[in-house]
Amino acid sequence: MVGPTQARKYHALGSRPGRLELVCGGHEGDTAQVRFYPAEFPPFPNEPTRDRFEILPQGSAVGEGVVALVPFRTGEEVFAFTGHVVDERTLYSLQLPGGRHLHDPYFMGKVLHHCDPNCSVDMKRRVFTARRDIAAGERITMDYHETEDVLFRSFTCRCGAPSCRGRIRGRRCA
Ligand SMILES: C[S@@+](CC[C@H](N)C(=O)[O-])C[C@H]1O[C@@H](n2cnc3c(N)ncnc32)[C@H](O)[C@@H]1O
Ligand SMILES: [Zn+2]
Repeated sequence: MVGPTQARKYHALGSRPGRLELVCGGHEGDTAQVRFYPAEFPPFPNEPTRDRFEILPQGSAVGEGVVALVPFRTGEEVFAFTGHVVDERTLYSLQLPGGRHLHDPYFMGKVLHHCDPNCSVDMKRRVFTARRDIAAGERITMDYHETEDVLFRSFTCRCGAPSCRGRIRGRRCA
């Protein structure tokens, strides 16, 4: 059984209450097992948890990517994210308003680019929102041009969208 203390803890993480028993097995101190972020980041509302997302290898050409394990509806906040504010862009950073960067090698930084993505990003609120319905098992994607003036490294996009832009360099170089 999940006691009130665990229920509060998981609710704070944004987990869906019906999935608690599956995830934590009813033991105190299991919070770290469902989190992607290390303990240096205190738990925050709607942070990504392992009952709702998985980070999977997507093939050697693309690297790791985030996959949804549960469905999301259009307009729903998919997850909130955090990271370290840094001056230089990294492979795992997104650009903040004002020109600094949020470095997150734990979760957000693993989201793949798509030229017709299923999520949009709000860097002020630090949340991903569904642009359309997302099915369980689908990759979470964003358009790197929504946030990045110049990419840490450019790449040839393999998103497969009819509107694919080909080489992705950042919005200033588009
Ligand atoms: C922010 S990292 C994401 C994590 C990365 N997939 C990894 O494992 O290191 C961005 C890198 O992922 C790859 N990538 C992301 N989206 C891609 C796409 N649509 N097509 C091809 N490569 C992609 C590119 O190598 C890009 O430089
Ligand atoms: Zn593309």
